[in-house]
Amino acid sequence: MSQPTIESILQEQRLFPPPADLAAQAEIKSAEEYEQLYAKAEADPQAFWAELAEKELDWFEKWDTVLDWQPPFAKWFVGGKLNITYNCLDRHLKTWRRNKAALIWEGEPGDSRTLTYAQLHREVCQTANVLKQLGVGKGDRVGIYMPMVPEAAIAMLACARIGAPHTVVFGGFSAEALKDRLNDAEAKLVITADGGFRKDKAVPLKTAVDKALADNGVPSVNNVLVVQRTKADVTMASNRDHWWHELVPAASADCPPEPMDSEDMLFILYTSGTTGRPKGVVHTTGGYNLYTHMTCKWAFDLKDNDVYWCTADVGWITGHSYIVYGPLSNGATSLMYEGAPRPSNPGCFWDVVEKYGVNIFYTAPTAIRAFIKLGDQHPQARNLSSLRILGTVGEPINPEAWIWYQQVIGGGKCPIIDTWWQTETGGFMITPLPGATSTKPGSATRPFPGILADVVDLDGNPVADNEGGYLVVRHPWPSMMRTVYGDDDRFRRTYWEHIPPKDGKYVYFAGDGVRRDEDGYFWIMGRVDDVINVSGHRLGTMEIESALVSHPAVAEAAVVGRPDDLKGEDVFAFVTLENTHPPSDELNSELKQHVVNEIGVIARPGEIRFADALPKTRSGKIIRRFLRNLASGEDIAGDASTMEDQSVLDKLRQGS
Ligand code: WT7
Repeated sequence: MSQPTIESILQEQRLFPPPADLAAQAEIKSAEEYEQLYAKAEADPQAFWAELAEKELDWFEKWDTVLDWQPPFAKWFVGGKLNITYNCLDRHLKTWRRNKAALIWEGEPGDSRTLTYAQLHREVCQTANVLKQLGVGKGDRVGIYMPMVPEAAIAMLACARIGAPHTVVFGGFSAEALKDRLNDAEAKLVITADGGFRKDKAVPLKTAVDKALADNGVPSVNNVLVVQRTKADVTMASNRDHWWHELVPAASADCPPEPMDSEDMLFILYTSGTTGRPKGVVHTTGGYNLYTHMTCKWAFDLKDNDVYWCTADVGWITGHSYIVYGPLSNGATSLMYEGAPRPSNPGCFWDVVEKYGVNIFYTAPTAIRAFIKLGDQHPQARNLSSLRILGTVGEPINPEAWIWYQQVIGGGKCPIIDTWWQTETGGFMITPLPGATSTKPGSATRPFPGILADVVDLDGNPVADNEGGYLVVRHPWPSMMRTVYGDDDRFRRTYWEHIPPKDGKYVYFAGDGVRRDEDGYFWIMGRVDDVINVSGHRLGTMEIESALVSHPAVAEAAVVGRPDDLKGEDVFAFVTLENTHPPSDELNSELKQHVVNEIGVIARPGEIRFADALPKTRSGKIIRRFLRNLASGEDIAGDASTMEDQSVLDKLRQGS
């Protein structure tokens, strides 16, 4: 990992107290109440979580031990038995919520569907029975590669129902990326669709699955279950591919929830890291259920009449925790939207808010910046008065975008809930609580009760207020990742060894730079490792470099992030070519497309620059710091004396 100079330049002074009427009715009603909860949790985290687990979740059998902590491996509610789908579905059927909307879905072409809790329960049970028919049992992994249709959530819940861990692969990933993930997880079955609608186009998915599975590409997969969405022409392999609409409606709706151990694996979700191989982040059942339930309840202050909309895709952790599990465990109405703002309807999000009277809206800074660019006329032409709370996630939000969100979308009356968290953390870690926390534009504010977040230097020593450092967490929390799938060692190295334990006390290393101000507010400054954040999605620079180098023309590649107005960061690649391949514009475009084929369209480099050589240290390490400077058009900052060959930099400069 490169040693960053952490220096925070953001000095934002504005303070926005919670609206009084909202606070009066909120779950957590005041700053004092938050402080009390925080202090209580800090004094005895286990007692704090145990009390909530007892009160908020239904268990088939109670745990014997709240926390078994053998660093870096945590087990929560050991011996407890539950099924997350019981908490998300069955228990609501015994109440008036039986006929409440669980999912409201709006398709991009304008079709829509609402599933009540009873209907969702029925379809989940039927799908679970189909999975069983197709040979999936407890512990078997299932790949899900879907558009944003209700069946995506149903598929996840059906897996959880029978104790088959799911691994959702974002539909924007390529066949190659899908294949890698399915192989790593050794998935037994894949659930997909013919395609989905996005930006007025039918995006194919089944063809990518076919490509991934071709020539026995994923030997563990025996069956594919296919939802019909776009009605695109697809080939169905006999004995392998099955239509959802033929099997699911015909299946029995009786499928009792499998009693799962609290620590049984619920899902694997792949995320980028500093090495080329994606990491399978493992989440388990009990702690994840509790933590996503509590954070959703307190940070979004869910009310029973609310329509709650998170715009993420189910392929990301945000979709897992805050479209599916968190909201449903709370008995909320969760809205799913298939599409994206597009030239034919740049105001489509605001149409959806108006049509369903959305009360809580949760999106990403990259989307907010895109809305700003599209113009105020779109939100202003709709009635957005139903909105009560606005959320943001994925990257630091610039104060100006924050203010725009608060004013133009929120009409000045909605708290902005800036949630800092990660795939690895499972749920919100640092976030305002809308009735309790005064917000500052650009700050994720204070840690959630029970989260002992801190700022330290690389030796693990505390850092003074307002000085930059590394974001760490000092105590295990229920929804923390348990390991990297199949690679405990990588788990230990990545998250627990950069900062050495002190007196045997391990701290979780998040990989983000941060500053804490005099009020205890956290200001996230971004990644400190070789991970770049494009539109709120983490991409490992190594992963993109490996993709580039897999092309026969490429000798060496170095990828860095370049600041981008819309995406936050854009992918910038420096490439040296094999002598056999002279540089050309055609080759440049071909390499960009090659990255799309290997990883997916989100990783497409905004720019590829051909170079004769890359700047390296005497020990042969690429000096990314210099490349970052070059990519953003800045002067080379810092000492270049460790460089092997000084003329390399001169040439790279001239190239720009
Ligand atoms: C990384 C995690 C958690 C769902 C979305 C991304 C950055 C996330 C914030 C925020 C500043 C943020 C961090 C983090 N990040 N939320 N509110 N403010 N930065 O999940 O792909 O696991 O990425 O996203 O750098 O480490 P992810």
